[in-house]
Parts: sequence; C-alpha cells; structure tokens
Amino acid sequence: MNVTPIGGRPGIPGQDEIRQKTTTTTLRERKLRHDPITCLTAYDYATARLVDEAGIEMILVGDSLAQTMLGYENTLSVTVDEMLHHVKAVRRGVKRALLLADMPYGSYQIDADDALRNATRFVKEGGAEVVKIEGGEKRADLIRRIIDAEIPVAGHIGLTPQSVNVMGGYKVQGKNLNGIEQLMRDAVALDRAGVACIVLEGIPREVAAMITAEVGTPTIGIGAGPECDGQVLVFHDIINLTFGVPPKFVRRYGDAAELISEAVRGFRADVKSLQYPSDEESYHLPKETKAGLDTVLIRKRAMQR
Ligand code: KIV
Repeated sequence: MNVTPIGGRPGIPGQDEIRQKTTTTTLRERKLRHDPITCLTAYDYATARLVDEAGIEMILVGDSLAQTMLGYENTLSVTVDEMLHHVKAVRRGVKRALLLADMPYGSYQIDADDALRNATRFVKEGGAEVVKIEGGEKRADLIRRIIDAEIPVAGHIGLTPQSVNVMGGYKVQGKNLNGIEQLMRDAVALDRAGVACIVLEGIPREVAAMITAEVGTPTIGIGAGPECDGQVLVFHDIINLTFGVPPKFVRRYGDAAELISEAVRGFRADVKSLQYPSDEESYHLPKETKAGLDTVLIRKRAMQR
C-alpha cells in the first residue's frame, strides 16, 4: 500500500517524470543515472506546495527556519516543538517530493534514547520521511540506531551550522590535508551507516567531488561545487528574503523582498487615497432589501422634521 498520496494530473506531456514520487530508493537511482537531484528548503504550506509542484525532488524543513522564519541569530535556539510546527504545515503541502526534517541542536546530541524519541516524533507527528543529523564519524552509531528503528537518516558534514561556536564562525571546512582526511572519514562512515543522502556544506569543490566519487550514497551539495549528485539551497536565499548579503554560492532567482514591499506600499497608498476598496470590491444589499431600507430611512427622516 502506498500511504503517500500521489497527486497531479496524469498524461500531461513532459510532466510525468517530475510527477514521480521521490523515495530514498529513487535518490540512489538518480545518482547511478547521473541525474542531478534538486532540493530546496520550505517551512510553510504555501511554499511547500509551490516547491513540490515545480518538481523539486527533495524538500527540507531545515533548522535554518530559526533564522529565516523565526528571526533567531543562529540555528542553536530552535526547538523540536518549533520545528514540528513547520514540518506539519509543509507535510500538508507536499505530495511528490521526499520530505526531510532537520533534527535541531540538542535533540540528538545528549542521549541516544532521546534522539530516537525525537526522530520518531518527526515521523509520527510531523510526517517526515527522513530526518537530518549534522556530523559524520562521531554520529555513525546513533544514525545506525535510528535507521534500525525504520527511520531513514540524511547525514550533513562540512560546515555544520550547529557547530558554529566550535568552528569559530561559518567557515569553509576541509581546506587542509587533515581536514580533507576527516571529511573523507566522515563521508565513508555515513555511507557505511546507510544514510539516505549526505549533505555536503561549505567545502572545496575538489573535496566534494572526491567524496561523491567515493561513496554510493547520493551527495547533496550546498557551497560544495557542481560535482555533487544534487544541490540544495535555502528557499529564502534564492528569492532574496534574508535581509543580508548572501554567501558566494547563492544564486538569486527572484526578488520576493521587492515584490512584497511593492505590494504592501501599493495597498497602503490605495487605502490612504481612498482608492481601495472600490464599489466593485464591496458587497451590496439585495434590490428588495435596499428598497425596503430606503423606505424606512425616508420615513425616519420625515419623522425627525
Ligand atoms: O537548515 C538548513 O536549511 C540546512 C541546509 C542549508 C542544508 O541544513
């Protein structure tokens, strides 16, 4: 039984391929076919629908929502409950993409039982199909345990934002031989643990290419060059909704900030100048009620004279 509803209108020329439900299995097939995998973050129902309907194969409810949606300074503050609120909304908007949820800082670092309980919540309450965990070699045992509980896991290595204080800022990782060796060990450990995919963030293109060639697991890059099996970006980055200078790997595909500001300024100006609402944008009384009301008002006025 397929419990994930597969929507869309069948038989539209050229549309069948993008309407296929993405699973952890089809991700691997894409790697083997050298068919680039696309992934974007989404944090709400409307965005999730648009991203899903555009044919993106993976949707990540990233803990980047701490900054993009909740205005926190970094990802460290966001909680499991806050994440779940967004995962549930996104779940309602996604039909075909594989839905990944980030395990936030503190939800898997303290205790393995706790981590398993939290991962289960993302699946059971949130409807996530995969949970994402930052860290390589040192997380391999925990990841095996979560996979044993029938929960697919995405790895995430390189520039891992939850380690911002340990890294001393958001710095590109794997720039020297020791760093490269550690990244290779991390990738191989995740591959052996059986993760569904490995996010490679903020690492030199050459290192990402080596990892991608070495592991059977699909690699999804962000600031990791074009040789990865797929690419992920933060939705708010590609539509200019982050109020800052984006990192060098971000390509902007639209200007939502300008679009929203222009719409809001237009509404304000129309209300102030009495241009909104117009008569066409107003409800009217039925003819008979209007006639009756006019009669009442005429009588009232006559009595007042
Ligand atoms: O939280 C997030 O958006 C992420 C992506 C940057 C991969 O982890």
